Amino acid sequence: MIEPTPGEFWQLEEAALSDVLTSGRLWRGNGVGWGSRHDSATEAVADRFEDAFADWIGLPYAHAVNSGTSANEAAIVSLGLEPGDEVICPAACPAFVPFAVLAAGCVPVFADVHPETLLLDPDAVERVVSDRTRAVVVVHLWGLPAPILEIRAMARRSGWKVVEDCAQAFGTRINGQLVGTFGDACCFSLQQSKHITSGEGGVFATRDPDAYARAVLYSSAGVPNFRFGLPIPHKPPGSIGRGHLGFGHNHRISELQAAVALSQLSRLDEFNRRRAELVVLFEQALVRRNVASVRRLQDFPEAIVSYWRYPFLVPAGSGSFQEIPYLEPAFKQMNEKRRTPFGLPIPEYVSYSPGSFPQVERGAAQIRALSVHHGLTESELSASIDTILADL
Ligand SMILES: Cc1ncc(COP(=O)(O)O)c(C=O)c1O
Repeated sequence: MIEPTPGEFWQLEEAALSDVLTSGRLWRGNGVGWGSRHDSATEAVADRFEDAFADWIGLPYAHAVNSGTSANEAAIVSLGLEPGDEVICPAACPAFVPFAVLAAGCVPVFADVHPETLLLDPDAVERVVSDRTRAVVVVHLWGLPAPILEIRAMARRSGWKVVEDCAQAFGTRINGQLVGTFGDACCFSLQQSKHITSGEGGVFATRDPDAYARAVLYSSAGVPNFRFGLPIPHKPPGSIGRGHLGFGHNHRISELQAAVALSQLSRLDEFNRRRAELVVLFEQALVRRNVASVRRLQDFPEAIVSYWRYPFLVPAGSGSFQEIPYLEPAFKQMNEKRRTPFGLPIPEYVSYSPGSFPQVERGAAQIRALSVHHGLTESELSASIDTILADL
């Protein structure tokens, strides 16, 4: 779904884009690394965006990339895992999440979720642990606070790493602390529908300098474009070229994306206030219309929830959650045609087809989510409430 955002909404972004175009520099350059510096004499807008993002989230290292999926990949790679290591993913999440695990050379193993929130269930995580488990991706779906404290405690006891996927959770706090800052690495998406957007784009952040270095190398073709004071390895005397220190993709963000993302970040609090207002309007509409078929999710008294979409419970069979990553056909295709990025078939015990996880299907059948995009007017919200209620 493309979220509606009126034209006049983009004035700040338009000015920022115009500045980039006037400057003539549309890519961020090779940064401070070994590459050509002809267009790197001035600070890139992408640098400013990373600084602002690191400041906002309160972590020392942030790296902007070209999509949320690239940020997920950077987060997995940052953990320094070995090929074939297992990474637990929630049974309810967009397929980008397990695909990023595969792209980073690891094996996604799914764990069931709570049927009344679709958030990862710590007991279900326990049930899929094996001696190859090395990490877990916790997705703060819809902006809800996933049980990160319980899962982080399990991870610490077992020596696993934790990635927080905050693609849908810009600004959610647990006990006053921003989600994204509880784990070893976090990733955010800047795709069109998200709290802030540059059309496509993503950000990775961490407090660990080694994790940051691994993520940067992977995302910029192995070139050490390190920032935030991280030392750049010396270029061997007489060597030419960019200095690719290892394998990496080109997942660089462009200056055009970064300019829009930076402007949007400066408006995040304003957007989140509007989202909170739309949630209140929805709840008031339910009371006013005396809608018995809709139930609120559980309360999260420890959290401030920054909703991406607003989920609610409906009679069984009326739910509409789509993001169940049944990846069996993809696994089959990968095994038959090109295997996996780590050169081995996906192990047989990793499968995900309808019926694999009962709670995710129970939850998907009884949960709906309303768009509370900050660009919505009250009449648009009201029209979408009408559509939902007419359908129940
Ligand atoms: C939870 C979650 N993770 C990752 C992604 C991937 O982000 P992108 O679409 O920007 O690649 C998304 C985006 O839809 C998402 O919702």
